[in-house]
Amino acid sequence: IKNDNQILVIFGASGDLTARKLIPAIHNLYKKNYLPEKYAIVGVGRTAYNDEEFRKKVVYDNEHLKQENGDSKEEFASLVHYHALDTSKAEDYPGLAKRLYSIDEEFGTNCNVIFYLSVPPSLYGVIPKHLASAGLNEEKTGWTRLIIEKPFGYDLQSAQELNKVLLEDYNEDQIYRIDHYLGKETVQNLLVPRFSNSIFEPLWNRNYIHRVEITSAESVGVEKRGGYYDGSGAMRDMVQNHLLQLIALVAMEPPVKSDAFSIRNEKLKVFQSLRPLTPEEIRKNVIRGQYMASKIKGEEVIGYREEEGVPKDSRTETYVALKFFIDNWRWAGVPFYIRSGKKLPTRVSEVVIHFKPNHHHIFSNNQEINKQNMLVIRIQPDEGILLKFGMKVPGAGFEVENVNMDFSYSDLTDAYVPDAYERLLLDCMQGDATLYARGDSVLAAWEFIDPILKAWKEDQSIPIYGYPAGTWGPENADELIEGKNMAWRYPCKNLADDGIFC
Ligand code: BG6
Repeated sequence: IKNDNQILVIFGASGDLTARKLIPAIHNLYKKNYLPEKYAIVGVGRTAYNDEEFRKKVVYDNEHLKQENGDSKEEFASLVHYHALDTSKAEDYPGLAKRLYSIDEEFGTNCNVIFYLSVPPSLYGVIPKHLASAGLNEEKTGWTRLIIEKPFGYDLQSAQELNKVLLEDYNEDQIYRIDHYLGKETVQNLLVPRFSNSIFEPLWNRNYIHRVEITSAESVGVEKRGGYYDGSGAMRDMVQNHLLQLIALVAMEPPVKSDAFSIRNEKLKVFQSLRPLTPEEIRKNVIRGQYMASKIKGEEVIGYREEEGVPKDSRTETYVALKFFIDNWRWAGVPFYIRSGKKLPTRVSEVVIHFKPNHHHIFSNNQEINKQNMLVIRIQPDEGILLKFGMKVPGAGFEVENVNMDFSYSDLTDAYVPDAYERLLLDCMQGDATLYARGDSVLAAWEFIDPILKAWKEDQSIPIYGYPAGTWGPENADELIEGKNMAWRYPCKNLADDGIFC
């Protein structure tokens, strides 16, 4: 792998993401020799560290940095620098420019810079503007890229405004909107079974697929992020970005090539085909819930409204389930279901493709079993793929039983599965935006979500259901899936198991 020499500038360098994800990701790339010959990291933040103090924090004392036998942190630490500034003050930026030019000269990084914005969303527009006012958006001799964390906007209007502000000083191909789900190996692999085989693709449409279901469950609550989460909720935090991105990968047409332009064009078309929900459908087909105090395995757990930073009368959803359609040739009439929540029984994310039952049944119990033909693509944990289909029960007669055929990533014992941030940072270093969200797609996703959020805000009569922590969310969500013996799959930790009690 060959990368241009470059500098990574991290805004919000004293924050949690830097120590927990970004520095460990770069450290892994360093250990694998994926960093260019000349490379420097510059942490930027308000706290007045010097280089040594910052190195101590993010390298030497960083419990997330995996150190192997005989590994020395010193050489890696020498790449790390710190520059203190008030990110909101334009007058502080010429000083940053000066520091970057001097590091560039010292390290020989050819004026190639990535600015990573790991800061509160209110600064997403501000920092790029100030960088531009100090001339740091210009690509005179090298290149400049911006990585922007989620959430990209709070609603459609703010996302449009942010996009506009960024495009005043940068080109779209300089802007990398990160969605860490796209960096997950299993998420990228949604494309490969579909487009590298002739087995699945012929069935991948309204003629053979009954419904598509995506579950993203977390067993944790909002932890220490109550303040942020209460202004967000599950719809903004998970659905608008991560889960709609999964939908796009599952539902898209085959791209002409596997490059950023072709793949992102096809994803955009999916977002544009999402059928807007009518006010009546928002009431009926979108279920929101909030976890309540309960006992999990004999232990008392608090409810969402008791969490630190959450108002006692909060109406923010910690669970959401919705049913919707994609109006295009391939998917007309096929319902899509998404479900995501906190304090659910287990941490699991998966995509389930349910196939249509046969029309004619010649075996005794075939009809019921037949409704369970499915392909489960497990994003996490126990990453893998599982196909469920009917087989003969050995012995007299022709009784049918469901069996599992599965592939597990853990079978590839020597395969190294990089962390999402590692993959995404490497891609940005190489100028590959395939796994980043493009501006037009983000706006199209907001267009679908915005009316739901508006309805929830304006119409207080739309219920928010309480669900005991540690359960699968409000029971009303079960009613979204219509049909006898049709229900959500209740996944367990192990890919092959399911059931409400595991
Ligand atoms: C983040 C959300 O984007 O994704 C969190 O803000 C959520 O609330 C997290 O917990 C889930 O990510 P993962 O990789 O653990 O599934």
